[in-house]
Amino acid sequence: MGFSLEGVGLTHANGFRALHDVDLRVAAGERVALVGASGAGKTTLLRVLAAALRPDGGQVSLLGMEPWTGSPAALRRLRARIGLVHQAPPIPPRQRVVTAVLAGRLGQWPLWKSLASLLYPLDPEGARHELARLDLGERLYERCDRLSGGQLQRVALARVLYQQPDLLLADEPVSAMDPALSELTVALLNEEAIRRGVTLVASLHAVDLALRHFPRVIGVKDGMILFDMPASQVREAQLRELYAAEGGVPMAGVAAAADVAAPPPLRCI
Ligand SMILES: Nc1ncnc2c1ncn2[C@@H]1O[C@H](COP(=O)(O)OP(=O)(O)O)[C@@H](O)[C@H]1O
Ligand SMILES: [Mg+2]
Repeated sequence: MGFSLEGVGLTHANGFRALHDVDLRVAAGERVALVGASGAGKTTLLRVLAAALRPDGGQVSLLGMEPWTGSPAALRRLRARIGLVHQAPPIPPRQRVVTAVLAGRLGQWPLWKSLASLLYPLDPEGARHELARLDLGERLYERCDRLSGGQLQRVALARVLYQQPDLLLADEPVSAMDPALSELTVALLNEEAIRRGVTLVASLHAVDLALRHFPRVIGVKDGMILFDMPASQVREAQLRELYAAEGGVPMAGVAAAADVAAPPPLRCI
């Protein structure tokens, strides 16, 4: 079970229309990268796929369920099966790494277990295992506010690995990492998706990372899907059109400085 969107539109509270009539069908186990300029609508689309934002038009089916037609309890159960890694992980600053990772299963555990785990970590070895895959195993009892932005992103990834969702969504998950670490981390996400047969959708600032690691690449522009095709068929002209307003196609070498306003133009294929 993957997901499908049909004619999905979304207007933010301030009246800005961020998605227009989006049709998208992704089968179970597919791995898809979303690319596109800042403000294109990638985060909004991922939040619709996480059942965190309710569209104002169209049909949404996630993991075989329609999130907005069932009961609140059904929506909670669905959300527990979906993992979204935020670009800037919303982790309470004083929280310890172990607690942040174990929070990945809060939606699946009974209330008593969730509360107990907040006071006393119930499965530190499970958390350490996932952190070790991201080379952070020794930071288990560190406070999150002592970590760098890139380390925090890896804690958020460890949390979603620990959650073991059926639909894994990642919003620019390596934007605060250097190119080498970005490469390893995106590879790990893909390995995990393949190993567990999970559907993976990740937005990526660096186009070359998307093309190297994902079989299917979707270009998002002005709240619409500009192209949706196998990575092997994406051509430079499409990328130039996608990033026309940004003055160049962003590549991993400059992605580490994701906050730099306009990356220099680079050849991409
Ligand atoms: N909560 C919000 N309220 C109002 N406008 C928003 C909100 N979130 C995003 N937007 C606007 O919607 C558009 C798409 O944003 P976003 O989905 O974050 O794009 P991307 O992730 O591709 O940068 C942008 O113009 C952004 O300013
Ligand atoms: Mg975004």
